[in-house]
Amino acid sequence: MALSLLHVVFLGAAMPLLLFCTPAAGAGVVGVNYGRVANNLPDPASVVQLLKQNGITMVKIFDAFPQSLRALANTGIKVTVMMPNGNLADAARDPGYALGWVRRNVKAYYPDTQIHDVAVGNEVSYSSPDLTWSLVPAMTNVQKALADLGLADAIKVTTPVAFSAVNVSFPPSAGRFLDDIAQPVMRPMLDLLQRTGSYFSINIYPFAAHDAHPDVIPLDYALGNYTPGVVDPVTGLVYHSLLDAQLDATYFAMENLMGAGGAARDGILRASLTESGWPSGGRVARPQAVAEADGAPAASVANAQAYNNYLINRVLSGNTGTPHRPDADMDVYIFALFNENQKGLGPDDVEQHFGLFYPNMQKVYPFDFNPPTESWCVANAGAGGARLKAGLDYACGHGADRRGPSNPAGRASSPTPWSRTPRTRSTATTCAITRQAGCATSAAPPPSSTRHQVNLH
Ligand SMILES: *[C@@H]1O[C@H](CO)[C@@H](O)[C@H](O)[C@H]1NC(C)=O
Repeated sequence: MALSLLHVVFLGAAMPLLLFCTPAAGAGVVGVNYGRVANNLPDPASVVQLLKQNGITMVKIFDAFPQSLRALANTGIKVTVMMPNGNLADAARDPGYALGWVRRNVKAYYPDTQIHDVAVGNEVSYSSPDLTWSLVPAMTNVQKALADLGLADAIKVTTPVAFSAVNVSFPPSAGRFLDDIAQPVMRPMLDLLQRTGSYFSINIYPFAAHDAHPDVIPLDYALGNYTPGVVDPVTGLVYHSLLDAQLDATYFAMENLMGAGGAARDGILRASLTESGWPSGGRVARPQAVAEADGAPAASVANAQAYNNYLINRVLSGNTGTPHRPDADMDVYIFALFNENQKGLGPDDVEQHFGLFYPNMQKVYPFDFNPPTESWCVANAGAGGARLKAGLDYACGHGADRRGPSNPAGRASSPTPWSRTPRTRSTATTCAITRQAGCATSAAPPPSSTRHQVNLH
């Protein structure tokens, strides 16, 4: 509906039709999550060399591991550090504790190490629900500590939220946070993020939705390349990528909570995709249905290559917007840098296969973090397999080529941090897989009657 209106308005104004070929734009930086839940990873100094060799300019860690922070010094690599969930209760209760933590784990390294965010906790409302009430008070005290130390302009406070916090995600325009955290937690959090010029950080795994409901979530939709498209019947917006639909559900949840004219408006409060990725192998552990434990056909090298290249190339081509927020800037952190052999619930769990690199620092499949120096579409034509080629064709047909390389230098500092997740606790990917299963139903495309193709041209 809204789309038809746009057509009328733009055609009436004799705007170039080319506009309709670029439904999304927006700048961002693409980085990686450097997790260390493994016993066979290279030392931090070697890891930093690997980042540099591969043109990776932004990294998020799950702690404030001194060796990692020292190795990242004087590299220009932007770093997000994380206050682990285990510190939240103290940080919430005691401003002095938060100040001491920031002194030791942030100020001690800055500015040699370009820390630009502190993630306070990780997926707290999902993985540590008992700490949910400590989250915003802890963020507030960490923010105050940064201000007291004169760091609040350079370093932002945020907290990665699991997508399971978005209770209603289809249609995207109906996006809502879970009732029990919307008013008491999300609202003051969004206020704090807006007041401090920070970002709303969200972890989203289209893989999880597809894996849980392959019958209703087409693989191509999860890979960002579903040609028919899925229509939001309320807005008329068309989604070719589940990631876009999930991001828009998040934006709408923010707006539906804060009011469309409030803090959540485009340009005021940005989102950062602090985790997304796709496994190149392994099995999904399904505690309730052990018999199905070997079924994760979508976890393959080809699909991981297609999805992560889709993410990287969207950011590099200046295409981080969504149908609802076409101009939204957004940073993206791919999960993860390495395959981590101590993650998950058992041997060969998919969680151990999210890496871009094997522990021996060999790439699991081809990818390139360097901005293209020539036309990205020309440079990538013919690259990869059929699946990847289809994704490239779609992206190039939708304006990726016209944007050229993004200009990371031209934008303000960006998002997030993190640290080692204790292996005994459910980790980010588990969250996504086990909880997003519940979200997946609502993320499903609408009934076939509304799943018609809409011609963007
Ligand atoms: C999630 O959304 C459904 C449907 O609107 C609603 O009935 C339910 O109460 C919500 N649950 C929570 C925890 O928000």
